Amino acid sequence: MKSVAVVGAQWGDEGKGKVVDYLAGSFEYIARVGGGHNAGHTVIIDRNGGKDRYVLQLIPCGILRPKQQAVIGTGVVVDPAALVAEIEALAKAGIDVKGRLHVSNRAHLIFPYHRELDKAAENARGANKIGTTSRGIGPAYEDKMARRGLRVCDLLEPASFREKAARVVAEKNRLAKGAYGADIDFSHEVDETLRLGEKIRCYICDTAELVNRALDEGKSVLFEGAQGTMLDIDHGTYPYVTSSSAISGGAATGVGVPPAKIKHVLGVSKAYTTRVGSGPFPTEMLDLEAQEVRERGKEFGAVTGRPRRCGWLDLQILRYAKMINGIDSLVVTKLDVFDTQREIQVCVGYNYKGSPLREIPALAEELEKVTPQYKTLPGWCESTYGLKDGARLPKAAQEYLRFIGDFLQVEIGMISTGPERDATIVPAGTLLSRWL
Ligand code: GDP
Ligand code: IMO
Ligand code: MG
Repeated sequence: MKSVAVVGAQWGDEGKGKVVDYLAGSFEYIARVGGGHNAGHTVIIDRNGGKDRYVLQLIPCGILRPKQQAVIGTGVVVDPAALVAEIEALAKAGIDVKGRLHVSNRAHLIFPYHRELDKAAENARGANKIGTTSRGIGPAYEDKMARRGLRVCDLLEPASFREKAARVVAEKNRLAKGAYGADIDFSHEVDETLRLGEKIRCYICDTAELVNRALDEGKSVLFEGAQGTMLDIDHGTYPYVTSSSAISGGAATGVGVPPAKIKHVLGVSKAYTTRVGSGPFPTEMLDLEAQEVRERGKEFGAVTGRPRRCGWLDLQILRYAKMINGIDSLVVTKLDVFDTQREIQVCVGYNYKGSPLREIPALAEELEKVTPQYKTLPGWCESTYGLKDGARLPKAAQEYLRFIGDFLQVEIGMISTGPERDATIVPAGTLLSRWL
């Protein structure tokens, strides 16, 4: 059975889009497993001398390949307006999704009032803001867990959709008024939502049946994770996390396949670390250093344009991500961003109150106060940009990768040396290379 899950090993934006796009050439189905249009997965393809750039938010990156089937799994929260806009943007770019896009009938919907509640909740947090993408993600998952959410399948039955929506809005209004003094009125949005629903009707199906059948028939499936391990609702730096499962286990629940049907887990990490939004970030760089990495790595949010916080690679975090996800191969992206770095720091452990810590503290307030222990490695000070052959990497770059792999006891299955599809190294003989 050929099925590989791609997960973020840090705080999101590791380059999952680039990696999934590269791998998608070797897979028939690509399934998004969770999150919503808080995700922004960037793909850059060299074409006819120019560069085509896509930022996908809901539709898996596999849609950019001509024949691949793209699945939006049950774990995803779908804003119908965002989905229709994405389908239309792809059509404008000459990419037809008809017959290739499949949207789970059980996925939950995001409505405009979820966005309003997201913003109201953030305002109410004052200095303790999470720094959400204000796309309504958290409030939509809240409704899902509270068992009052509306789902994609509801769009197919307009009469009962209206009834359910009226009930939900009345209840939400009572809650919102009490909590934030906010009035939410969704009544005028019902017709608009149903109109959008008609536009996606042809894509709606039971995606768990679809993907399981595909696997049973010997077809290949690539699971496209969103966000990253440290943003995971259960295992991330709570409460500075997103509201969904961003780990490999989330691929099983999000798409509806048994865990044993996922044969290989690929963790994606940058050669350094970034995070958008608030929350602890032990290896965060000082302003000047961060600025250089931010500029070289173009570290501005694909969705919100916010500058990303930048820091050194944190092997404590990656060790944890390897454990939680069962990472079989690690992908290191953005190696080229370090091409001008004279020295590179790598965090190999934390101290807290003078003693070494074996585990990552559960309390954000504690993680905020750990002192990272660094090892300094030499930089390579030459260009790796666009390299496709691992043997041509400078010695110091090879040492850096070897150090990471040895520390984590994991193979480096892929190295990304630029944002373009082709700027990729897959070392021969790795476990990952067998799936391609
Ligand atoms: P995702 O959310 O994990 O898919 O990552 P994003 O697309 O949000 O952010 C990753 C950014 O890094 C995008 O702008 C990519 O085009 C870019 N990128 C990915 N891999 C590389 C790489 O190896 N080198 C450089 N310089 N940029 C890369
Ligand atoms: P991809 O898939 C980076 C962050 C937000 C915020 C927190 C909660 O592109 O890697 P939310 O809107 O989800 O309630 O915000 O999570 N966040 C991401 N950061 N990459 C993402 O997705 C993210 N999705 C959410 O910045 O800190
Ligand atoms: Mg992103």
